[in-house]
Amino acid sequence: MRQLLPSTALLLLVSAGTQAANLTKAVVVLEPPYNRILTLDNVTLKCQGTYPLGDNSTQWLHNGTLISNQASYFIKAASVENSGEYRCRKGLSELSDPVQLEVHMGWLLLWAPRQVFQEGEPIRLRCHSWKNKPVRNVQYFQNGKSKKFSYGNSDFHIPAATSKHSGSYFCRGLIGKKNESSEPVDIIIQGKSCTAPEGPAPPGHQIPFSLVMVLLFAVDTGLYFAVQRDLHKSMRDWKNSKVSWKQGP
Ligand SMILES: *[C@@H]1O[C@H](CO)[C@@H](O)[C@H](O)[C@H]1NC(C)=O
Ligand SMILES: *[C@@H]1O[C@H](CO)[C@@H](O)[C@H](O)[C@H]1NC(C)=O
Repeated sequence: MRQLLPSTALLLLVSAGTQAANLTKAVVVLEPPYNRILTLDNVTLKCQGTYPLGDNSTQWLHNGTLISNQASYFIKAASVENSGEYRCRKGLSELSDPVQLEVHMGWLLLWAPRQVFQEGEPIRLRCHSWKNKPVRNVQYFQNGKSKKFSYGNSDFHIPAATSKHSGSYFCRGLIGKKNESSEPVDIIIQGKSCTAPEGPAPPGHQIPFSLVMVLLFAVDTGLYFAVQRDLHKSMRDWKNSKVSWKQGP
């Protein structure tokens, strides 16, 4: 039992350490920041995150298959086959959450940095064209109603979103003589009640490792003395029983 304890403690510590590493999860960042793109677009995938004990080697996975060890992953002239789930890992960091890249075929794509926004946040929508061809007479629609028109191709900027801005959006314009429309994109504005409390995030995600160490140490020390006491007690009992046995008939 005495030999067993330190190795158990070690195992616990290792698992605690792994959990601390999990807290520094890598993050896939896209540049430009849109996960829906058109064929022939270029996009750079960056892996953010470090783990103090790890080297800074990077691993990229596409649909679960290792595809690169470069710090960034460039997709030049995207094709539909580049669609799918991308994840990365940096050093010993935990594998990032997946980023779903969608490569669409078409003339226009409504670019939104995200689909879910909090009330009060700014939103900038762009009408992105195939091979960045010039688009004229661009119109943005929300739930079928025209919200913005420009002769060139300007962004549709909402300085502070409210629940009224939720809905289905698309853009339309002329590419040469062709009148083209993008597919619709659903934008959701979440009320303040659903948001996390303001200000810096609670330190809950930073302290557990040291806390876990301290707790483990305390528990382990406690266990150690408890076991030692029991051991002494049973030794004593054993000696006593031996004595009583010797003294027996
Ligand atoms: C992608 O990059 C190449 C140069 O590396 C450029 O010629 C091409 O126009 C870019 N594609 C788009 C859609 O911007
Ligand atoms: C594109 O077509 C729609 C009808 O489908 C029309 O109402 C609109 O004016 C056209 N847009 C341009 C820029 O010509």
